[in-house]
Amino acid sequence: MKRTTLISPADVDQQLEHCQAVAALAAQWPDKPLAFVDTYGCQQNEADSERIRGYLAKMGFGFTDNEEEARIIVINTCAIREHAEHRVFGNVGALVHTKRRHPEQLICLCGCMAQQPRVVQAIRESYRHVDLVFGPHVLWKFPEMVHTLLTRRSRMFLTPDEPGSIAEGIPVVRQDRVRAWVSVMYGCNNFCSYCVVPYVRGRERSRRQPDILAEVRQLVEEGYKDITLLGQNVNSYGRDLDEVTDFSDLLEAVNAIPGDFLIRFMTSHPKDATQKLFETMARCEKVAPVLHLPFQAGNDRVLKVMNRRHTRGEYLEKISRLKELIPDIVLTSDIIVGFPGETTREFEDTLKVLEEVRFDALFTFIFSPRPGTPAAEMDDPMPREEKLANFNRLTALQDKISEEKHAAYVGRTLRCLIDAPSDDARYDFSARTPGNRLVRVAGSGARPGQFRDVRITDSNKWSLSGELV
Ligand code: SAH
Ligand code: SF4
Ligand code: F3S
Repeated sequence: MKRTTLISPADVDQQLEHCQAVAALAAQWPDKPLAFVDTYGCQQNEADSERIRGYLAKMGFGFTDNEEEARIIVINTCAIREHAEHRVFGNVGALVHTKRRHPEQLICLCGCMAQQPRVVQAIRESYRHVDLVFGPHVLWKFPEMVHTLLTRRSRMFLTPDEPGSIAEGIPVVRQDRVRAWVSVMYGCNNFCSYCVVPYVRGRERSRRQPDILAEVRQLVEEGYKDITLLGQNVNSYGRDLDEVTDFSDLLEAVNAIPGDFLIRFMTSHPKDATQKLFETMARCEKVAPVLHLPFQAGNDRVLKVMNRRHTRGEYLEKISRLKELIPDIVLTSDIIVGFPGETTREFEDTLKVLEEVRFDALFTFIFSPRPGTPAAEMDDPMPREEKLANFNRLTALQDKISEEKHAAYVGRTLRCLIDAPSDDARYDFSARTPGNRLVRVAGSGARPGQFRDVRITDSNKWSLSGELV
C-alpha cells in the first residue's frame, strides 16, 4: 500500500498568499484582529490547533480566550464519545448570543465531528450562526477558506470524505515552550469496532523521515526538551512509504539528533508493538522509559468482537518482555468498560490484567455507541447501573495500585524535567519524572525547561511531591 498523497509545496505556498491577503484586509479593521481557538479531544487535535494558530498568526491575528473579543472563533472538535459531542454542541449553541452582539464574527467548526454527515446536517439546519465547517483533510486550506468567507459572506461546508493526504510546511504556533507535539503519521486503518477515528481521520499515512527529523532538530534548537511523536497507531509508521523503514528506525534516528531532550510517543497498538520496538526503547537513551499501550479489555471474546486483533495472553507476554528489558518502565493504558455484550464475569478478566501488569495510571471509559460503527449496532443488554458499578470497581483497584506504585518513589532522587511554575501555592514548580509522572517540587532557582534532580518526599494516587536537590 504505497499511495500517500503529498500536497505540493506550491499549493501550501498559495495558502500563505491567502494569509497575506487576509492580513491586508484585517489591517483595515478598527481593532487588532484576535482569534479564539478552542480545542477538544486528543493530542492530534492539539497539534492541528497549533497549525490553525500558525496560519492565523500569518494572517495577522493575535489570540484570546474570550469569545466576546474574538473576530474569528475556531472550535476544533472531538467525536470519540457522545459526551465530547454534547459539550461541543452546548458551547457552539451558546455562541449564537455572542454572534448577535458581534455580527462580524466568523465562527468555524472543524476537527473530527465535522467529518460526520450527521453533525454537518445539524450545523447546517440548527446552528445557522456557524459560518464555516471543515474536516481534518482540508485543514491545510484554512487560509483560503477564511479569505473566501471575508470577501463573500456566505456559509461554507468543506468536508470531503477522502483517505487523506500530507501537507508539509504549514506554520505552527505552539502552546508550550518545553513540550512539543510532532505528528509522525495521520489516520488509522484498524477499525476497532467501537471507534469512530478511522471514519473521520482517514487512512494511515506517514510523514517522510527527513521532514520529521528536520522538525525535531528545529525544536531542539529552540530549546524544547520533551518531544512527543504522535499518531493514532505509531507502530505502523512507514508502511505506506517507499523507503523500507519502521517506527523503531524513526526512534533511532530521532535519538541520534544531538541535544539534551526526551522522546515520547503515542499511541501504540499492542498487535504492532514488536520486540524490535522494545529493544530500541531500551537502547536509545533519550527515549523516555514509558509506554502507553491500550488493551481495552481483558477477555479474549470481548477483544475479538472489538476487532482488536490481539489476545490477553499476547498482551501480557509483550508486557513481560518489555519489563525484562526496561525494569523501571512506566506503563499506562486505555480501557473500555461495558462494551456491548461484555458480562460482569468477562469484565473481571480486565481486573486480572490490572493486577498482573500493575499499570502506573489508566484512562478508563464507559462504552459510548458511535453511530456508523459496528459496535453501535450490537445488542447491549447490561443496565447502565451495572456498567457503572464495574467502572467503579475498576477505578478503585487502579487507585490502589497507583497509590502503591507512587509510594515506592518516596526516598528516591530522580532527574525531572521542570515544566512550569506550580499552580499549587505549597510548591514552586511542577515537573515530570522521566516516566512522565507529575511531581510537585519545592525549591528555588530552577527554570522551566531544566532537568533537575528532585528527591521525592511524598506521594498520593495522582502525583508525587519532592524537593530540589
Ligand atoms: N489510537 C488509540 C486511541 C484512540 S481513542 C488506540 O488505539 O489506542 C482513545 C481511547 O478512547 C481508546 O483507546 C478507547 O479506550 C477510547 N474509546 C474509543 N472509542 C470509544 C467509544 N466508542 N466508547 C468509549 N471509549 C472509547
Ligand atoms: Fe480507534 Fe482502534 Fe484506531 Fe485506536 S487503533 S484509533 S481505538 S480504531
Ligand atoms: Fe477525538 Fe478525533 Fe482525537 S475523535 S480522540 S479528536 S482523533
